Amino acid sequence: MTTIASAAASLGPGPLTQAALQQHIAPLFSRALAGDAARNEIYLANHSLGRPLDQTADDIAEALDLWYTGMDNAWEAWIGAMDEYRAKVARLIGRSRPDAVVPKTAAGQGFRAVMNALPHECPTVVATTGEFDSIDFTLRTYARKNRARIKWVKPDAEGIFHAEDVIAQIGDVTDLVIVSHAIFATGQIVENIESIVSAARAHNAEIVLDTYHTAGVMPISVDDLGVDFAIGGNYKYTRGGPGACWLAIAERHLREAGPSPAGSLSTLDTGWFAKNNTFAYERPETPELSAGGDAWLESTPPFLLPYQAEAGLELVEAIGLERLRDYNLKQQQTLADALRNHGIEPREISPRGAFLLVPHPDAMTISKQLKQAGLNTDARPCPSGTTAHIRLCPDICTTDDELERAAEIMASILSPTSA
Ligand SMILES: Cc1ncc(COP(=O)(O)O)c(C=O)c1O
Repeated sequence: MTTIASAAASLGPGPLTQAALQQHIAPLFSRALAGDAARNEIYLANHSLGRPLDQTADDIAEALDLWYTGMDNAWEAWIGAMDEYRAKVARLIGRSRPDAVVPKTAAGQGFRAVMNALPHECPTVVATTGEFDSIDFTLRTYARKNRARIKWVKPDAEGIFHAEDVIAQIGDVTDLVIVSHAIFATGQIVENIESIVSAARAHNAEIVLDTYHTAGVMPISVDDLGVDFAIGGNYKYTRGGPGACWLAIAERHLREAGPSPAGSLSTLDTGWFAKNNTFAYERPETPELSAGGDAWLESTPPFLLPYQAEAGLELVEAIGLERLRDYNLKQQQTLADALRNHGIEPREISPRGAFLLVPHPDAMTISKQLKQAGLNTDARPCPSGTTAHIRLCPDICTTDDELERAAEIMASILSPTSA
């Protein structure tokens, strides 16, 4: 039987090639690819919702079988799967300590756990206007309820964010900085995160890095970047579907078990899985937290979470982030060349994540027309507010022929006379 590990091993060493990926990896996605064929669609929205492996259905079925056959005996295996999930994510994002990765059902849930750990009732938060809507909306809601003051960092006229503009907003009153590693609307990778970390540290502020568009795209190390917290999730590049996310916590916020020492960060987003000795049912007057990252757990965790994310995380690890990154950049180049051959000028922000942009003031409408014509993309407003972009993201199953056809379809919609 072909497993993910044996399929990845069959690729051999060295750079990924279309021929090897089609031969060994595409068969692992037979259901999703059959879906594309049935919809008669080229799927380039992998930056939004990644394709699931066939194995994912079996993994979820395994979690359910444990329940059907074992009833409460299932807990042991479910807890083991969650530990494995935490270890896999830790390796994915370069966090050396698996227990420092706390499962969350959304990145925003991880972010709120940090907000609800800050010592001030109305903390001052520095945030870019390029944060994803979930974070943006949360911040505006906290501000509306006088639970936060927000200092917004704007992009330049081209919609690009600069570390120095974030640093300029950080001061002694700053409690928290939130910045995306890659901006969701443009794919821009924000450079010099380390300099933002140093500025935050110099002012005793915490920093959260949103890794949603870099985790699984390229090698990253939240340990090396030195951020206090990282949030992210699996429904894009690691193919784990909605609901399998995480909050990763830096060493300096992890402690021994027991009551929280005054001044240390612990969150209000808590529950009995964060208790020291969860199953002892003790109720000391002062809450006693578990050791390390387990202190950031909360109520009974959703135990399908590690199973839905397992296959995608395994595949990414087995192929390797460096090779995936190189291959994706090559595919983006192929697509950019094909678009230019059809008279369409893509926007190639450097450095960027896994997707390519085509600017258009009415990108949302164009994206809908593309979908009707058999090309699945999406579109987001540029953070500068001046235009919008169609986002196009190939994945390892996308062929060069599909990229060529995608360019033809785009030309037929954007410049019908020349197509
Ligand atoms: C940068 C970024 N952060 C977070 C999310 C998802 O947030 P949540 O898990 O809170 O829905 C997305 C989804 O597209 C994203 O692009």
